[in-house]
Amino acid sequence: MTGRLAGRLIGLGVTGSIAAYKAVELLRLLRAEGADVAVMLTPAATRFVGPLSFAALSRHPVETELLELMTDGRIGHIVVGDSADAIVVAPATAHFLGSMAAGLANDVVTATCLATSAPVIVAPAMDGDMWTHPATRANVARLREGFGYTVLDPNAGPLASGQSGVGRLPELPQIVDAVVAALGGRAVRSPDPATRPPIVAAVRDADLDGRHVVVTLGGTRESIDPVRFIGNRSTGRMGAAVVQAALDRGARVTAIVASAEVALPPDAGVVHVESTAELRAALLRQTHAPDAGAGFDALVMAAAVADFRPIRPAETKLERGSGLSLELEPTPDVLAEIGRIARGLDSEGGHTREPLRPVPIIVAFAAETGSLDRAEDKLRRKGADLLVANDVAEAGSGFGTATNRVSILAADGSREDLPMLSKREVADRLLDRVAMALDERDAGIQTEPTPERSPEPA
Ligand code: CTP
Repeated sequence: MTGRLAGRLIGLGVTGSIAAYKAVELLRLLRAEGADVAVMLTPAATRFVGPLSFAALSRHPVETELLELMTDGRIGHIVVGDSADAIVVAPATAHFLGSMAAGLANDVVTATCLATSAPVIVAPAMDGDMWTHPATRANVARLREGFGYTVLDPNAGPLASGQSGVGRLPELPQIVDAVVAALGGRAVRSPDPATRPPIVAAVRDADLDGRHVVVTLGGTRESIDPVRFIGNRSTGRMGAAVVQAALDRGARVTAIVASAEVALPPDAGVVHVESTAELRAALLRQTHAPDAGAGFDALVMAAAVADFRPIRPAETKLERGSGLSLELEPTPDVLAEIGRIARGLDSEGGHTREPLRPVPIIVAFAAETGSLDRAEDKLRRKGADLLVANDVAEAGSGFGTATNRVSILAADGSREDLPMLSKREVADRLLDRVAMALDERDAGIQTEPTPERSPEPA
């Protein structure tokens, strides 16, 4: 693993600010820098974000209860305090600053900070008046000057109170930079994994519980005549891995299967299709539930959809003759159409109909040859939330292989380049993102726009 935090263990403490949901993205950024991350949530933080996404992404149990032991019987805040290279508290509430300044350890985050000799980086988020209050000023000064902590200044902007002021969580890359800077050239403190928090393999078990995930897979076939077709090399393996992984994580799964060479798990609902038109029709049947709400929570469009089809397929077998010219027309872009339906847009992009409620998460796949430069544009064009891009020309990646090297692009412009992984592991990494996006979607009702405040109990 490369990155500025390669090999490091970072303890991530999250306290009860409305900005707590941003800590999930911070965790991802820390991991992208190569860090192993152990997450601690105060009881108030758990009211804003659940531990499941953090556990799935960090692959460690999430500490929430000071008095509970870790799964292996050790004491969480001592293990993290002793083995972490740095502790970052983000978002940090006024309550955290006060408790810390007074040396009170009544939750896992303050206890871990007290129990460590590692650098501590604090990223506050609170109401503007709370930030400027003399008590907070004194607490910040004590943390900075008395304890040597790095306390970042919050940003100016809109706050949860509806007012504008200084109190917004600093930008996430700035927090990551502060962690890197605080570590300087120190050696990795505790490289032996046995000294770090335990690894949990099964945390993904239930993070799609209650969700309906639709996966399209295989390659569509377009008839030339009753015996011939235009097809592609898709085997459906990547999509089948997504189906299995989603089932394992508790989802109800509908697989819309075009031509494929894979067996599908019996627990999946399977709809077989051949052409792009059939795939489109099958998918449209899934878009609305009987109660008129969204028919699915996520769509993973792993099918290799034919881009062109014969305008007039022959009704009888074509004679061999001396040659054959086919007149082709483009197929409808099914994914873009579903994306528009999901967002309540018409074909012109106007908001003329109701969006699906709740709006599903839509994942596109893009098989490219050479570079992935076009992928970003494709993500936008298709109106997808995530796009899994792979270079099918690379050995070990693409059609019919057991492995894949992919990049996951998100609508927010971020890009995660994954190493060569099994298709199952790629599926799980993708579903980590989908599960998290769904959690954020559900939480978004209370967090949009994204102001911050500190409702931690006094
Ligand atoms: N897709 C679709 N309908 C089509 C073509 C593609 O729904 N008619 C979906 C695929 O299932 C995939 C995504 O769109 O999830 C990207 O497919 P790709 O073939 O890479 O994109 P195209 O739109 O065909 O773009 P291009 O031909 O320019 O690469």
